[in-house]
Amino acid sequence: MIDWPAPIERFAEVASTNDVLRERARQGAPEWTVVLAGRQSAGRGRQGRAWASPPGNLYLSVLLRPRFPALSLIPLAAGLAVAEALPQVEALLKWPNDVLVGERKLAGILAEAQSGPSGVEHVVVGIGVNVGPAELPPELQETATSLFRETGEAAEPEEVAATVLGRLRVCYDALAQGGGVALIERWRERSVPWWGRPVEARAAGGTMTLRGIARGVSEQGALLIEGPDGTLQPVLAGDVHEMRAR
Ligand code: BTN
Repeated sequence: MIDWPAPIERFAEVASTNDVLRERARQGAPEWTVVLAGRQSAGRGRQGRAWASPPGNLYLSVLLRPRFPALSLIPLAAGLAVAEALPQVEALLKWPNDVLVGERKLAGILAEAQSGPSGVEHVVVGIGVNVGPAELPPELQETATSLFRETGEAAEPEEVAATVLGRLRVCYDALAQGGGVALIERWRERSVPWWGRPVEARAAGGTMTLRGIARGVSEQGALLIEGPDGTLQPVLAGDVHEMRAR
């Protein structure tokens, strides 16, 4: 596929590539180990949601063993990498790392960190890209899209994997070398144009909702929401959507 510094394991089907790779990580797999699957029987999304994983799309997980402080920027870096790896569409980023075309979701990222006594031991970055050409499940027709739907051209998941992985290395290396601020700037240039508009954020866990004006992303990758009193509230993990007048 590509010149790659670590093993790439391919499966016809797994429950979740993130789960397989977490096991490999525990067994000492090296950084950049990759697990790819043709389909997933129990694909997982952010916030405990399921990720529909029929054949024909890309399901991959990659192992990172970061030794730098900017860990909270890894999910944003992964989203940016995916968006930059798909020049055939106009991919936009929705905080923290949804990849959209228009208002429909093209790709999602689930970054799962494992900590030990000395801090974060590894991060499994799971990436799902709707490649097509299979129809999206009926319940996702309105909210999701695929490369095939956007371009009319069939792509091979394996080729998409190669470009996504290549771009991920570039973005991650930039982060590792202290390029967090520039990376956030690039992320912002590709973000959905919500800045200055009212949004509602549900913090991870779903217990707290915050409404206010989307102002930006902090150096730690937190979404900054301006409350009614003018103070900026950072949201470190969760979901956000634009509030529109009905
Ligand atoms: C989201 O947007 O909710 C994140 C979706 C992440 C899906 C990918 S597919 C490969 C990897 N394995 C999983 O079970 N999930 C991620």
